[in-house]
Amino acid sequence: MPILPLSIPKNLDKHFYNREKDLKKIKHYLNALNEDISEQILVTGLRGVGKTYLLKKLLKELPDNILVAYIDISKIYGNQRGKINEELIMHSLLDSMNHALRGEEDVLSGIYHKINDFLVKRRMEKYDFKEAGSILGIAVPETRDNYEKLSHFVMKFPQKVVDASEGAIKGFVIVVDEFQLLGELENPNSFFWLIRSYTQDQDNVSYIFTGSISKTSEIVEMINGGNGAFGGRMIQVNVDPFTREETEGYLAEKVGEISFTQDGLERFYGCTRGVPAIINSFCNTLSSGETYDAAKIKKTFFEKMDQITVMWIRIWGTLNEKEKEIMIQIAENGPQSWSELEKSVEFSRMTFTKYLDVLKNRGIVTFGAESKYEIADRMLEGWIKHKKEVDGYYPP
Ligand SMILES: Nc1ncnc2c1ncn2[C@@H]1O[C@H](COP(=O)(O)OP(=O)(O)O)[C@@H](O)[C@H]1O
Ligand SMILES: [Mg+2]
Repeated sequence: MPILPLSIPKNLDKHFYNREKDLKKIKHYLNALNEDISEQILVTGLRGVGKTYLLKKLLKELPDNILVAYIDISKIYGNQRGKINEELIMHSLLDSMNHALRGEEDVLSGIYHKINDFLVKRRMEKYDFKEAGSILGIAVPETRDNYEKLSHFVMKFPQKVVDASEGAIKGFVIVVDEFQLLGELENPNSFFWLIRSYTQDQDNVSYIFTGSISKTSEIVEMINGGNGAFGGRMIQVNVDPFTREETEGYLAEKVGEISFTQDGLERFYGCTRGVPAIINSFCNTLSSGETYDAAKIKKTFFEKMDQITVMWIRIWGTLNEKEKEIMIQIAENGPQSWSELEKSVEFSRMTFTKYLDVLKNRGIVTFGAESKYEIADRMLEGWIKHKKEVDGYYPP
């Protein structure tokens, strides 16, 4: 049985397939930092399609004079049990930006230690930083609850680092992964506007926002639509699933020991729709000695569904009862308008609104064609229905 990674492997190069075009495109925009031109980038695509893997690979290949900070909002969200706020995001940003300075020398090493000290103190209950004054010429917030000063500090920080490095550093790339969860902030719009207002004067700082959402989703509109903070100036890159040919090429290169008939391959592609995360978990249920035709693929798919959809089952496990009920309603009755859906659930309108928003912000439910809410992923929907069919009840 082959073993393909279900999360991002430590050895980034070993398992990585293709994506030459996407890599080249994004690198091109980041390289402009060397010319003091900073592009802001938005990377969208289905969950499991390989956005994070692509970006990690790309960041690793950037030259040493470009610093990289990375935060994953879904991790922060998970750690905080769904309660995120602006201050927390700013704190995480500063933490990860400062992390990028680790191991640097001279001036930057000095900054690193100062910021580290600052972050440690901030984390403590009795925060008081009155003696600090300023770092890099930016005022340091004296008290814990001074969000304005903190955000000013954090937003200014990356460009100041580049300036202070006297030519050693040419750019700062900041990745905000699963950014659609920022929709859970009290006012996501103003958060995006804040970032936009600083980036427009910074020639050496590129933000990459990436999320498991479609390129037409509401949050994309909010950040980069005509009336959005970036007003269409962000460069949008959508990471597509592997094509039929790429899927075949991937299988041949990574798991050549599994053989498929032509219609078996077709069926495999139909089941996975070219999503690498699903391809990998499906492959891990197949055996090396066998030849898979369409019938065998279909049989395995239904028998091993829990293993193949593990990415979604993990997410299912994080939903609460109410969120699950909403999901089940949509799976049972198909795409529905807000009021149809609201009528079909048992709980209050306020609760319903709250949890539907959470599902939307997490990229699990989408507000799609004809203003109806639907399940974001066909495989997740298929799995919910399949469970009902074989077990007689919906997954708990
Ligand atoms: N280009 C690729 N080559 C090989 N495997 C990939 C590729 N892209 C994604 N994968 C596999 O799919 C999984 C999901 O990728 P990930 O980057 O986490 O998706 P996303 O961030 O879009 O949700 C990864 O753990 C990896 O095993
Ligand atoms: Mg990801």
